[in-house]
Amino acid sequence: MYAYDEIDRTLVNERVAEFRDQVKRRLSGELTEDEFKMLRLMNGVYLQLHAYMLRVAIPYGTLSSPQMRKLAHVARRYDRGYGHFTTRQNIQFNWIKLADLPDALEELASVGIHAMQTSGNCVRNVTTDQWAGVAPGEVEDPRIWAETLRQYSTMHPEFTYLPRKFKIAITAADHDRAAIRVHDIGLRIHRNEAGETGFEVLVGGGLGRTPFIGKVIKPFVAGRDILSYVEAILRVYNQYGRRDNIYKARIKILVHELGIEKFSAEVEEEWQAMRHSALELDDEVVADIRSRFSYPDYEKLPDAPDELLAASADPHFERWLKNSVAPHQRPGYAIVTLSLKPVGAPPGDATADQLDAVADLAEKYSFGEIRVGHEQNLALPNVAKRDLPALWRQLDKLGLATPNVNLITDIIACPGLDYCSLANARAIPIAQELTRRFANHDIAEMIGRLHINISGCINACGHHHVGHIGILGVEKNNEEFYQITIGGRADEGAVVGTLIGPAVPYDDVANVIEDIVEAYLALRARPDELFYQTVERLGVEPFKERVYATR
Ligand code: HEM
Ligand code: SF4
Repeated sequence: MYAYDEIDRTLVNERVAEFRDQVKRRLSGELTEDEFKMLRLMNGVYLQLHAYMLRVAIPYGTLSSPQMRKLAHVARRYDRGYGHFTTRQNIQFNWIKLADLPDALEELASVGIHAMQTSGNCVRNVTTDQWAGVAPGEVEDPRIWAETLRQYSTMHPEFTYLPRKFKIAITAADHDRAAIRVHDIGLRIHRNEAGETGFEVLVGGGLGRTPFIGKVIKPFVAGRDILSYVEAILRVYNQYGRRDNIYKARIKILVHELGIEKFSAEVEEEWQAMRHSALELDDEVVADIRSRFSYPDYEKLPDAPDELLAASADPHFERWLKNSVAPHQRPGYAIVTLSLKPVGAPPGDATADQLDAVADLAEKYSFGEIRVGHEQNLALPNVAKRDLPALWRQLDKLGLATPNVNLITDIIACPGLDYCSLANARAIPIAQELTRRFANHDIAEMIGRLHINISGCINACGHHHVGHIGILGVEKNNEEFYQITIGGRADEGAVVGTLIGPAVPYDDVANVIEDIVEAYLALRARPDELFYQTVERLGVEPFKERVYATR
């Protein structure tokens, strides 16, 4: 866990006070909605289809139990009793009244949570692997660097009005759980041939209207240079990024139009001129940030405790164990994913009671720590294996033990037409219908790892381009239609999926997905060839034929 210092606390509190005054002026009519817009967006407040929505940052996806309880309290007291975890380590509250927003933010500030830079054309919440610090094989804890970047970028005067929003993600593991290749800047911590730790820097990834996979701009940047290098990129972008056309404003377009060589030459020139500046990080600064992270006092525990062996006789427990529990750096411990995807529910939603219960369980079983991942699930990162059976029983009662992590019903979906003013089509009901269709665990398990991602419009909040199966809502003659892509991936082998044919109407989407899955089962070379591997091997044609032959 990270402990905020006095500077952070003061900053966050001052921000709340300032916003309180702005809300007061809006409520009295002194400010028009138009004038208020910039101010509210700087505090993570959007105007949605039905109400204001508050987006709250969860830096590097790490929450303490008191923080989680506070989120539960805000959900209960100011919203309709639930919150929605997004694909960017944020939580959104959909129904907060404008007059209540300052109070809600003040309560969140009391536990070090804020909504700064969760909106606007600035550096957004820096995201990372939700298993940071506990994932086996990780080079080092990437949260140290996410925090360094957070401190650097928060209210950075030069980068408050970039051409467009800016997203940075970091991973330090072989398996990329942070989707760094679809971010404006992706950072991969690794060791070079000399054994030094540093960053591979990717730039220009992103989804939305024009999806791009990030390109490597520099294979190795040492830790001490990472801020200056990121700043050099931001400066080049700030100077040359387009401000005349919102659809061409992201850095991915600039990188694409200039070409990575030219772009990287510009960055290099900028960097050489300023790298030996105050931004050069000395070991002390990094050590200070590192020292603000506390790590659990792990016990020496057996890796196969009796409690675990005894519980394995229960097939339900065994199934959950296999699906939702992952290895940990420490023997005797495990990482437990809490599925926020029960059959028939909106992906990523959690009730206030569930959040409170998770806070309690984290205190009891995970050293008071909870993680939020970009797949809209939660995790308890530090569970002693001997406690797994007891934890499972309690999660099961709370509806948080659906053993579907990474399976076909572990769907990512944006709010779509149910909430979002930009949507063309519904996303949540499609997800709900699909979870019902594939509710049978045996079938889901037989299908294996398969990610379905759904967005209600081209903005791609649901990351549809990089779903193994992607579903994108489009509008035709005032009706909801859906384009289906297959073969996308968001991990270390990220690719954008390929469209398989004309858009299909709302009522047919679940059938089409079933057809695609059936085609896959018939086409796969071996039972362990995953869906995206079959698409990679065969291309989309056989799937296309199967889906459109009868339509
Ligand atoms: C409901 C209110 C929301 C609004 C008004 C909204 C708006 C937008 C817009 C306009 C974009 C496009 C940005 C671009 O073109 O570069 C975008 C992208 C994105 N949104 Fe949302 N969004 C909302 C909710 C969500 C939710 C609930 C999630 C998570 C499930 C989310 C996650 C994202 C992500 C990950 C992207 C990035 C796509 C990229 O990589 O460029 N948003 N959002
Ligand atoms: S993808 Fe479109 S519909 Fe979905 S939340 Fe984003 S802006 Fe709204």
